[in-house]
Order: sequence, then C-alpha cells, then structure tokens
Amino acid sequence: MNTEGESVARNRGATCRIGVIGCGRIAQSVHLEILSGLPGVRVVALAEPDSHKLDAARVRAPTSVGCSDYAELLELPEVDAVVVCGPNAMHAAAAEAALERGKHVYLEKPIATTLDEGRHLVETYRRSGLIGMVGFNYRFNPLNDAARRHLASARIGDLIGARSIFSTGPGEIPAWKRTRESGGGVLLDLASHHVDMMRFLFGREVTEVFASVQSRRSEADTALLHMLMGDDLPVQSFFSFGAGAEDRFEAYGSQGRMSFNRHRSTHVEISGPSQVTRLFSWLRDESPSLDRIPFLLGKLRGTGHEPSFRSALMHFVTAVQANKPALPDIEDGYRSLAVVLAAEESASRGRTVSIRDWDRGGVPRRVNVAS
Ligand SMILES: NC(=O)c1ccc[n+]([C@@H]2O[C@H](COP(=O)([O-])OP(=O)(O)OC[C@H]3O[C@@H](n4cnc5c(N)ncnc54)[C@H](O)[C@@H]3O)[C@@H](O)[C@H]2O)c1
Repeated sequence: MNTEGESVARNRGATCRIGVIGCGRIAQSVHLEILSGLPGVRVVALAEPDSHKLDAARVRAPTSVGCSDYAELLELPEVDAVVVCGPNAMHAAAAEAALERGKHVYLEKPIATTLDEGRHLVETYRRSGLIGMVGFNYRFNPLNDAARRHLASARIGDLIGARSIFSTGPGEIPAWKRTRESGGGVLLDLASHHVDMMRFLFGREVTEVFASVQSRRSEADTALLHMLMGDDLPVQSFFSFGAGAEDRFEAYGSQGRMSFNRHRSTHVEISGPSQVTRLFSWLRDESPSLDRIPFLLGKLRGTGHEPSFRSALMHFVTAVQANKPALPDIEDGYRSLAVVLAAEESASRGRTVSIRDWDRGGVPRRVNVAS
C-alpha cells in the first residue's frame, strides 16, 4: 500500500461520507467500485434520475440513500463530500450548489462548459475554503509523474517542442457527448485532460492556440490544436472520438527525446539526440520483454484499466480527512477550460487566439501550476 493508502487507513476513525452524483458509465465502472472498497470511506448517497442505473449503482452501495436529482442529495446532512460524475453541462451548477452547502467536491472534468460558469465556480470555490478537486486523474499516472521528474532534471536538455495524441476507440458515444450544446465534443472531453497534463508537465500556461475542428461521427469529434506554452514552447495535439485508442506524448529537447504511451508503455522512454543513440533506445524499448508482463497484467486488472483513477480518488479522500487542499483543483480546471474554449473560438474564426486577450477579466493566476 502506498503512503496515501496508509494515510487513508490510519484515518479510518474519521469516516469520509460520500455522495455520488450521476451514476452512469464511469461512476459505475470506476468511481463506485473504487470508493466502495477504500478504507475510511462510506458511500452514503447516490443521485441518478434513471431508476435502472440507480438500482445498478446501489449494488456497490446497498445502504446508501437513493435520490433522483443532485439537489435532493445535497440536502442530506450526512454527506460530507460529493463526487460529481454527471454530464458536463451540469458540472458547474452541481459543484457550486455542493460548495454552497458546505460539501467538499471531487468534480469530473471539464469543470464547466462556458467561461462565465467556470469563473463563477472558481469564485465560489475560493470563498468556500473547502476542497474542490478536479478529476484530471492522469496526473496520478506513474508515467506522467516520471515524465515530470525527467523534465525537471533537464534529462532531454532545453525543451524545443512537444506533441500529443489522445483518441478513443470506435465505441458508442453517449447522446450528450454528441452535441456541443449538451456539453459534448472532443475538446471538452479529451483535450481538457491533455491541456492539464501539459500544464502539469511543463509548469507553464498555454498562451495562444490555433485549432481546427471536424465533425465526423458526431459534432466536433476530432480536433487539431497548435498551442504556444509560455513564450516559446510549441505544442501540437490531436484529439478524436474513434481514431483508435491512443494516448501518447512526446517532448523534444536539445539533448534528446522523451515519450510514453499511456496504454502500453511500462516506463518513460528517453533517447539521445543522435540517430545511433535513438536506435539503441528503440532496440531497448521495443524488444519484447518479460518485465512488461506484470505491468500489463496490473493494467488489465486495474479499475477502468487505469491505475490513476484510484490514486486520484484516494488523494481526494485523504485531503478531506486531513482537511488540506488537494490539487489539481477547480482553478486548474478553469485554466484548462479557458484553453479549450479559446480553441473553439479559434476554430470558428480561423485565426490564432491569445489566451491572455481572450480570457480578459479571468481569474488571477496561482503562481504554481502543479503540486
Ligand atoms: N476522468 C476521466 O478520465 C473520465 C472518464 C470518463 C468520463 N468522465 C467524466 O465523467 C462524467 C460522466 O461521464 P459518463 O460517461 O459516465 O456519462 P453518462 O451519461 O454515462 O453518466 C452521467 C449520468 O448522470 C446522470 N444525471 C443526469 N442529470 C443528473 C442529475 N440532475 N442528478 C444526478 N445525475 C444526473 C445521467 O442520468 C447519467 O446516468 C463526464 O463529465 C465525463 O467527462 C471522466
């Protein structure tokens, strides 16, 4: 058990009583399974308008109170904290209502679907003094953590550029994800994760973005972003619902290249700057190796095949029990949202959008981008 797990166990006396809002696909396959097994945690209430889904969710939390709407759940005094897994369009309203009723919040990404909603939520969060963590769980994936350490130690020299791909397989897209009006589209869904990851890895903000967006199977389901981070780091990212499951990241520096693929890398790959050193790295990293088997088995066994969900939720629970802030927080969510909305603006106008200009009057920046 890692340090956070031990801390959750140590604090078992202070049970964290959680209400889950929205019991659809991800809540049932990931959040409820994890929360119902965490020491020191009790899922005391569930909110879900679809009675079949509510019944299915209660299998994981049989003693919980069932509510047909989040507003009902928020009136329950026994709920200390909520985990919001509803459709994107309800995120800001549900999180704000929860904070106003004194409940700590773990909010799935994106935090909102408009900048005004996002700003309002940040203000409510700041006033509340409560924990408001955002479900950018990939920050807790060991590969991202290792990549961040390599970058901080300048393993690949001065950064010159980066690129990323985040795409999902050809599975069905839920109705609300198929139109922007209901909070759908690949920018809010997948790009919000990678923008946060870039901020986390590089420790700087996106300052401008140029984007093109396409609608293939559903509205705005494919996008290409050219971003500038800080004053001089160019980053290119491709996102799609249905171009095959891929979550890949590459950074190029004066002394080498760093890359990983969340779905299949067992470690962050570093290769030197010359063709020869790259060939050796390729032979080392691509050759079949028995030491990959435990990693791959662990990944297959992990909830949602992704270990970071569990670590992120444990981090939230530990923060609630210790009453200490947890990152990534709602302000991080706002920074990611501002970039996603600027990308939409860029795609509709066909020009580069400066985040500083576009986000006039936005919330002031916190100095440190990451924990
Ligand atoms: N962090 C991640 O990697 C990750 C992965 C998948 C999904 N998500 C996020 O999780 C959220 C849910 O995604 P999903 O795929 O499970 O969607 P989903 O449509 O399967 O589930 C959403 C559920 O919310 C319910 N709901 C609607 N209105 C409600 C209300 N007023 N009160 C309570 N419940 C209400 C719906 O009936 C539905 O069952 C989304 O915001 C998505 O972005 C995050």
